[in-house]
Formats: sequence, C-alpha cells, structure tokens
Amino acid sequence: MKIAIGNDHSAVEMKNIIRKYVEEKGYEVIDLGTNANESCDYPIYGEMVGRAVASKEADYGITICGTGIGIGIAAGKVKGVRVCTCSEPYSARLSRMHNNTNVLSFGARVVGVEMAKMIVDEWLDNTYEGGRHERRVAQLMEIEER
Ligand code: RB5
Repeated sequence: MKIAIGNDHSAVEMKNIIRKYVEEKGYEVIDLGTNANESCDYPIYGEMVGRAVASKEADYGITICGTGIGIGIAAGKVKGVRVCTCSEPYSARLSRMHNNTNVLSFGARVVGVEMAKMIVDEWLDNTYEGGRHERRVAQLMEIEER
C-alpha cells in the first residue's frame, strides 16, 4: 500500500516523523515535499497529493500544513478525493468507516506528534463499512458531476 504525503514549510519536521511512522507500519511512502523550510504555497502540495490519490498512483494521501485546513482544501479540489481534516482520532476513524476518506489532513501547529500518530493509526487501521453509507458517499461524489 502506498501513501502520498505532502506538506508546506510549517510541517517539514512533522512530515518526516509521520513518514517514518507510516513506513514502520508497512506502507510505502511517496514524499511529494516540500522538504525545505522556506515559505511555500500549500495549494501546490495539496493538489499533488490529491492527484496522486485520484490517479491511483497512491492508495491514500496525507497532507500537513500549519492547520491542515488549506492543504486539505487543495487536495479535496481534485476530483475523486474525499478529505478528512481533523485534530483528534475519533473523527479520523469515523471518516474512514463512514465517509471512505482517501486523504487525511492535520495541522503541525495544532496537534503534537503523539496525537498525530494516534490520528494516523485510527485512520489507517480502520476500513470503510459500506452498507448504509454507500448511498451517501455516492451522493458526495455526484456533486462533482454538477
Ligand atoms: C502557513 O503560514 C499557513 O497558512 C499554512 O500552513 C496553513 O495553516 C494554511 O491553511
């Protein structure tokens, strides 16, 4: 399983920690950057992660910026992407089980490393339940066609 990870300048250190963490969990990581501390524009990296997931180059995506919000909005603009931007594990878990999210976003300036790891665990270790959620997820995706 492959995970595309993208981040802005505010999240280089967090990205490296999470990258190592998910590699240790057995995932292959596609690191789309940035790996520089110079100020950069999060939409570029969010879109790259979204495109990697939408094209199936990666199974999942993780986006990290200061809040997780801007880079998550960018990833979610790509057709086929469903983003969970969150700062606690419960929402991460339910977003997989009910919303079949394929990109996780969080803020390096919002959550600490241990909370980020818990969020990642709940998101990666849970699977989509389907069933009653299928109709609603299909409705979400139909919005992209209007
Ligand atoms: C960068 O300063 C900051 O705006 C960015 O990391 C992010 O929080 C945007 O949503």
